[in-house]
Amino acid sequence: MARNKIALIGAGNIGGTLAHLIGLKELGDVVLFDVFGGVAAGKALDIAQSSPVDGFDAALSGGSDYAAIAGADVIIVTAGFPRMPGMSRDDLLTKNAGVMATVAEGIKTYAPNAFVICITNPLDVMVWALQQKSGLPPHMVVGMAGVLDSARFRLFLAEEFKVSVEDVTAFVLGGHGDTMVPLTRYSTVAGIPVPDLIKMGWTTQEKIDAIVHRTANGGGEIVKLLERGSAFYAPAASAVAMAESYLKDKKRVLPCAVMLNGEYGMKDFYVGVPVVIGAGGVEKIVEVEFLPEEKAAFAKSCDAVKKLVEDFKALGV
Ligand code: APR
Repeated sequence: MARNKIALIGAGNIGGTLAHLIGLKELGDVVLFDVFGGVAAGKALDIAQSSPVDGFDAALSGGSDYAAIAGADVIIVTAGFPRMPGMSRDDLLTKNAGVMATVAEGIKTYAPNAFVICITNPLDVMVWALQQKSGLPPHMVVGMAGVLDSARFRLFLAEEFKVSVEDVTAFVLGGHGDTMVPLTRYSTVAGIPVPDLIKMGWTTQEKIDAIVHRTANGGGEIVKLLERGSAFYAPAASAVAMAESYLKDKKRVLPCAVMLNGEYGMKDFYVGVPVVIGAGGVEKIVEVEFLPEEKAAFAKSCDAVKKLVEDFKALGV
């Protein structure tokens, strides 16, 4: 059987890390695309030269010709500009809107049957734009944010409880921004919900509140440290988990930005909710019951996303 083909649009920090991880995991052959074709080709060649050392078989190539993505099974989009210190994700809207329009055109022309994962920020509006402009079915176009946000939440919880990250699950909903909604009662250590762990005296509400705050600002914390760009290792790992679930039909339940069509009482825009990802793309949207304060927080997050969608439309790109 021929190997899967994975196209990466954007060969910057996240794009390069994606290519390396995909090679190491032998998920398929990789085509890197970037407006700077030399960077894409150089990273592809460099990673390919690591394959004999690490013992993986994958063909890697790079360039600036969209024709090379033809027939891709999965496309991961990171094209655009990252945040600099002092910027919010939303500040990237104008810069990245035009980029999405050209990327959507390339995908529509050369790989309309692909499963598309968008990472470019501001995430929820960029993935919406990519779907609208490419015309691909909504269940085949998703945004990566929730896997990353919940990974950050899991790490901070594991550090607090001094347990393995493997035994911590976390649940984060809403837009990828300061309004994201980490749901502590659905977050667990070995199946024990966080509120029960507080009752057991293993931690305190104050410590959990601080962790929730740190999670919501997790990207900004890294931007401040890096000074010249934004996080790339964890975002790449998160998108690879989503791609793997699709390619291997694992049917993992992952928080992703998806187009809502009445679920959670919302419609016609993308926001983060738990979904099942398998060979059919987004196979199911999981709807959980909200407590009143959770419902209010989710609605606030949705309002922030809807406002950005309106701002995008006003740009007339
Ligand atoms: N088509 C293809 N590639 C493009 C385009 C375009 N129209 N415009 C820019 N690029 C490329 C840049 O040349 C660069 O190589 O996108 C790449 C982006 O890489 P980085 O600047 O290193 O940014 P990265 O850290 O990878 O983040 C990319 O993901 O998490 C988000 O906020 C982040 O929006 C940013 C995106």
